[in-house]
Amino acid sequence: MRTTLKAAGIAALGALVLAGPARAQSTKVDPAVVEAAVKGMFGHAPAEWQERIVQDETQKACSLNRNQPPADIANAITARETKNVVLPADGKFLGDWKSGEKIAQSGYGGRHTDDPKRELGGNCYACHQLSKTELSFGTMGPSLLEYGKIRKYALEDAKAAYIKIYNAQAVFPCSNMPRLGHNKHLNEQQIKDLVALLFDPESPVNK
Ligand code: HEC
Repeated sequence: MRTTLKAAGIAALGALVLAGPARAQSTKVDPAVVEAAVKGMFGHAPAEWQERIVQDETQKACSLNRNQPPADIANAITARETKNVVLPADGKFLGDWKSGEKIAQSGYGGRHTDDPKRELGGNCYACHQLSKTELSFGTMGPSLLEYGKIRKYALEDAKAAYIKIYNAQAVFPCSNMPRLGHNKHLNEQQIKDLVALLFDPESPVNK
């Protein structure tokens, strides 16, 4: 099981919302209740963590709507999240797939016991299948097998994948996928390496 505490942490906010009793599905969630519950779990974490347990505008909108926002709010989320995507200054989206594979495999980082100076991982396998030979992967996200091949390695699609990894909610409002670039969890080069993992014909994703 490759899923780490980090994935659990990332999913925690979403899970809280999803975990409500079935009969409450149609009622709105009070954001104050969500915040109090999160504070109860992580309130004793170090000071630099505290801002991470406060919901931003998008997270509040997702909590309020149980991750199923009506069209106007969904559009507002994708517009807001698209605005904060920073594309690579050199206009290149493809890095090194071998580094990308290591980043996809690594779930390091995000826990308050982790050393922030060590390279953080993307933890992609916690939610996605990315190779036929890796037996351990999660299924919260769709399989990404043959992701580049299916898209004929088109540059436009590589750019779209960069945006997706940088900020999943620029594409899919209230996605369970973390906003890895937006949260400064992964840097530009790491995201390029992951795009190469998806779009290099030699990568295990496309074999
Ligand atoms: C906590 C679970 C989770 C993690 C971790 C995660 N994803 Fe996702 N991902 C999802 C979910 C759920 C979706 C489907 C909904 C959506 O599109 O946002 C998705 C969608 C995607 C898509 C779009 C798929 C399509 O249909 O076109 C790509 C590309 C992707 N993820 C890449 C990655 C990469 C690369 C990583 C590692 C940096 C990663 N994901 C980490 C949950 C996750």
